[in-house]
Amino acid sequence: MKVSADAEKLRAEGVDVVDFGAGEPDFPTPDNIKQAAIRALDGNFTKYTAAGGTMELKKAVCERHQQDFGTNYQPNECLITVGGKHLIFELIQALINPGDEVVIPVPYWVTYKDVVNYAGGKCVFVDTDEAKGFTLTASMIEPHLTERTKLVIINSPSNPSGAVLDPAECEKIFKLTSSRGIYLMTDECYCKFLYDSKPFSIASLPGAKETVLVAGSLSKTYAMTGWRIGFGLVPASIVGAMTKLQSHSTSNPTSISQKAAVEALRGPQESVGIMLAEYKKRRDFVVQRLRAIPGVKCAEPRGAFYAYPNLGVAIGKNGIANSLQLSERLLSEAHVAVVPGEAFGTANHIRISYATSMHELERGLDRIHQFIVKNA
Ligand SMILES: Cc1ncc(COP(=O)(O)O)c(C=O)c1O
Repeated sequence: MKVSADAEKLRAEGVDVVDFGAGEPDFPTPDNIKQAAIRALDGNFTKYTAAGGTMELKKAVCERHQQDFGTNYQPNECLITVGGKHLIFELIQALINPGDEVVIPVPYWVTYKDVVNYAGGKCVFVDTDEAKGFTLTASMIEPHLTERTKLVIINSPSNPSGAVLDPAECEKIFKLTSSRGIYLMTDECYCKFLYDSKPFSIASLPGAKETVLVAGSLSKTYAMTGWRIGFGLVPASIVGAMTKLQSHSTSNPTSISQKAAVEALRGPQESVGIMLAEYKKRRDFVVQRLRAIPGVKCAEPRGAFYAYPNLGVAIGKNGIANSLQLSERLLSEAHVAVVPGEAFGTANHIRISYATSMHELERGLDRIHQFIVKNA
């Protein structure tokens, strides 16, 4: 968000900036969803709802998860929140006590670290292997589990790397955590955007309900980032704790957005496939263009809409000490906004969001190519 704000500032000064920073779909919200919101307004569905979300939406969330992944959640195991980020915040505040350890694979989505710190928990970072596409395995996690481990976080497909967890590996990770009574949070924000594998939820494994915590969001799947609807599928006792927190902080998510979300989940799903096909085209283009820059490596993203290239070739030269400085120079000199790898726990990378048009991708990648050739 800071990158986008900096890019916006430059733009306001008249600079032609290409923005690869924003992590949100460039597609409009599908029309059927917008119409449902208009109907909610016309029908005066504009008052408080139950703090944890309407029963109608909770049911719609459980049904969609069942249809997509074969799970069997009930509305009392569901909470509706003001976006997926809010869900993750509340879940971690409800669960983590000072000193509890939370295992987070690297590279990670930036919010996990800060919300764990806010709760007084201790982040334990697990490195993944770039040469293997940053894919997480159970054997990477195991050495980091201790008596104090309360939670392991997984995010497949991953923001920022696009890495996807293999279902067989999910099973091993689940056995590892459930046998020790450790919670496993699966952030399914990008679960529908997979390029070469079928949607899979670790929550569909037998016995998963006790310790697996699903963090879901409508933001990316239905191009609804501004509507702010997320959900959790977690044990009923945890729903209770989180609902208390929510009832004394935000109260219910916006009533109109909740009606729109019901339509998103129950209505036609074609728009998701259309977006996915477009992201795949862009993914292929971006990876090919990045790999064509001398010295640049780029693991292939297998999901989500981010590429996470290694630009180490330009670091340690020409006054560029790290990827933060590289990103600053890319913005000020090449006029391309990207997110530095430091935000995600690695030093030599930048994150490129390809949730933007092919035309913008072409322009931005030309600029990055020229900048790296000049500075490497
Ligand atoms: C990995 C991941 N999880 C969760 C979210 C939360 O999204 P929202 O709060 O818009 O639902 C994001 C948003 O960028 C994300 O990248």
